[in-house]
Amino acid sequence: MSRSVDELASVEGIGRVTIARLKNAGISYLEDLVAFNPEELEELAGIDYERAVKVIRAARQLLGWSARVYRGKEYAEALARREVLTTGVRALDELLGGGLVVYDIYEFAGEFGSGKTQLCHQLAVTAQLPPAKGGLGGDVVYIDTEGTFSPERVERIAQRFGVEDPLSRVYVARPINVDEMEEVVVKNLAPLLRGGARLIVIDSIIALYRAEFKGREWLAARQQRINYLLDWLKRLARIHEAAVVITNQVVAVPSTWGVTIKLPAGGNIIAHASTHRFLLKKAGDVWTAECLDSPRIARGASASFLIAEDGLRDVK
Ligand SMILES: Nc1ncnc2c1ncn2[C@@H]1O[C@H](COP(=O)(O)OP(=O)(O)OP(=O)(O)O)[C@@H](O)[C@H]1O
Ligand SMILES: [Mg+2]
Repeated sequence: MSRSVDELASVEGIGRVTIARLKNAGISYLEDLVAFNPEELEELAGIDYERAVKVIRAARQLLGWSARVYRGKEYAEALARREVLTTGVRALDELLGGGLVVYDIYEFAGEFGSGKTQLCHQLAVTAQLPPAKGGLGGDVVYIDTEGTFSPERVERIAQRFGVEDPLSRVYVARPINVDEMEEVVVKNLAPLLRGGARLIVIDSIIALYRAEFKGREWLAARQQRINYLLDWLKRLARIHEAAVVITNQVVAVPSTWGVTIKLPAGGNIIAHASTHRFLLKKAGDVWTAECLDSPRIARGASASFLIAEDGLRDVK
């Protein structure tokens, strides 16, 4: 249950004016407030830095989220209790160690036609399945930066999984630039997550940044903005226990012996922000997902799948 920022009135030194400022900035719940950094709150709500620190701290205390240290065993149990989302493909689920767990950020990079968007569509369906069937029993927020979201594909894949009226549970955003995408993430996501969204998809994370920040002189600024967005995604995923999937393009990087290899775009920032990073490839009629980096999955581990008219499937 979400708790109102009105409760802050009970805290010594926090007045009505501050609470009104929070609400004006669209922050009505304590759970939303704790996601902010003081700097962000200062900018968004016009609350001075010191007061912002105090307000965020008070919200955390009211929620009983004061900094906590866990015993390893207890922590392991909490991790093991995290919900898992099936991809609908047994081989991929096995590669992932059961499926996609909430809180973690999963990145799928690959060339055109490597299956990134099809996978996102499939997850937009499986996330709606009840937990007993491998889903999260929740809604989906699909941030489509490349204009490739297809309602028809979602409906077709949903038929296969027996999900009825799937589009009523998918929220689609089509931001036209980085600023709009940031607004969607910082302002629009929290209410949707509170309302029952459990999966956030960004297909792709990089397109808008590439279009907007051209040339080397903009690289530092671009990386900073990507970092800001990914940091928000992480905070929201933790607070609302959501699964996060981002797709990425690849860039050709020269390696030794004059060979070029394809690596995910976005440099270190995306590499560090993604908990699990996979490279998707198509070879003949079969697609593969290969693990590039993960704290739990071996580098180089891979799984094969097919893309059919009704979605991603196991190779027979
Ligand atoms: N209705 C369909 N039936 C069968 N296969 C399909 C269908 N729709 C798409 N595909 C397959 O999926 C492939 C496209 O994959 P997808 O759109 O996921 O690529 P992508 O990795 O997102 O590429 P991009 O970088 O261009 O966005 C097609 O090449 C096709 O093989
Ligand atoms: Mg695509």
